[in-house]
Amino acid sequence: MTVPDPHASAARAPLTRRALREAREGEHGVSATAAAITAAGTGTDSAAATIAPDVGGTGERVPATTVPLPTLTADMARPADVHRPADAAAPHPPIFKAPPPPLPPAPLVPLLSDESAPRHARKAKPLARLALVAASLVLAVATTSGALAVLNPASDQHTDQHATGSADITASTLGANAPDDASSRTSSTSTADVPTQIPTPPPAPVTAAVDLCDKPAFTAALTAHDDAAAIAAAGGGADFRQAVVGGQAPCVPMDDPTRLWIVVDKQRPLQPLQYAPTPRAVPDGVRSLDGAGLRTDAAAALTRMVAAARTAGAGQIAMNSGYRSYKTQHGNYYRQVEVRGTKDADLVSARPGFSEHQTGLATDVVACDPHCGTLDQLAATAQGRWIVAHAWQYGWIVRYEQGQTPETGYLPEPWHLRYIGVDLAEAYHDGGFHSLEQFMGLPAAPGY
Ligand code: DAL
Ligand code: ZN
Repeated sequence: MTVPDPHASAARAPLTRRALREAREGEHGVSATAAAITAAGTGTDSAAATIAPDVGGTGERVPATTVPLPTLTADMARPADVHRPADAAAPHPPIFKAPPPPLPPAPLVPLLSDESAPRHARKAKPLARLALVAASLVLAVATTSGALAVLNPASDQHTDQHATGSADITASTLGANAPDDASSRTSSTSTADVPTQIPTPPPAPVTAAVDLCDKPAFTAALTAHDDAAAIAAAGGGADFRQAVVGGQAPCVPMDDPTRLWIVVDKQRPLQPLQYAPTPRAVPDGVRSLDGAGLRTDAAAALTRMVAAARTAGAGQIAMNSGYRSYKTQHGNYYRQVEVRGTKDADLVSARPGFSEHQTGLATDVVACDPHCGTLDQLAATAQGRWIVAHAWQYGWIVRYEQGQTPETGYLPEPWHLRYIGVDLAEAYHDGGFHSLEQFMGLPAAPGY
């Protein structure tokens, strides 16, 4: 079933007016024919059904206005000429040829009884055409015996009934056949339905967003390696993300491990594979159980987050693990392989060169109250719940959530936090995202 285009009438109206004008001015050729066809398809569904093609035989009709006029080739124009509406005033048939036999008036009666059609047609016909028709009749009568037919009582009666209906006279006496006449009446009837006020056109389509890379403030911040300023220049985290995902920020280095938006997963190894972030620091006021630090901006953000959790009464949060070098990750991963085998190890530990810990932007945290629990215990603690609710406000996200293994490639790790900066974390939270892959519009990474 075809759903009507709500803008169809708005789109049709101007074209219909033009079609009528062309028809009335007697323009010749394909364009006039096409215009007349369009006019005939305007206003009534039945008229449109006559003209509009059936798309793919599905029964769905293309609205008349969607029939591209240029596709009316010369071949198509010929039959259309035959079916030219009577009021189109296109090339008159040669008036000295034997006129056709008179049309039986009966089929015209129902149409002519429609007041709107002849009234509109009468308005549309110039007097000059009436004179031409009259002259044609006289000549025809004088030169052709067959022309006597036009003087038969039926035709006279028809003319009398519509004394000023020159279009009707023209149609019935100059060769238009009954079906075309019907088409003409439909056209006239349709024009009565043409709205006198052109509907407000639909709003123009929203133009594509400006490429972020054309913004000097954005590119300057990128060049200065000030990621937060770049995101701000983009309009904030959500706009930045939208631009990246929408392909409107091709200058953004997505594989640069120094950037806040870096995504490292089983499909996206660190480049270079043995990358090491600098400078690094152990966060102030945060216990680091293995002595590891973080990249300094992430370290400062963790300091703020841990202090906020403490202030909120959620308890103490400590780092179980922070930055891990390629070498450290190599040892971690292969220990897991020895214990679990490769398949299961890959669900809990990243291969060297594929771990977020190597960026210096990830930490595993535990709850300490006062003794520190294990990673597995975090989720059930006040600290774990506080992290789920508030970590994003300090630029951190829980990277490996429940149910996201097909996206991330890892089993849930409520303790593994990833720093992406406050602006992006806010967009991540507000957008309801649950994986960094989806957030940055990247493919899922279930495996290597
Ligand atoms: N446990 C996470 C996936 C890592 O090893 O980086
Ligand atoms: Zn981790």
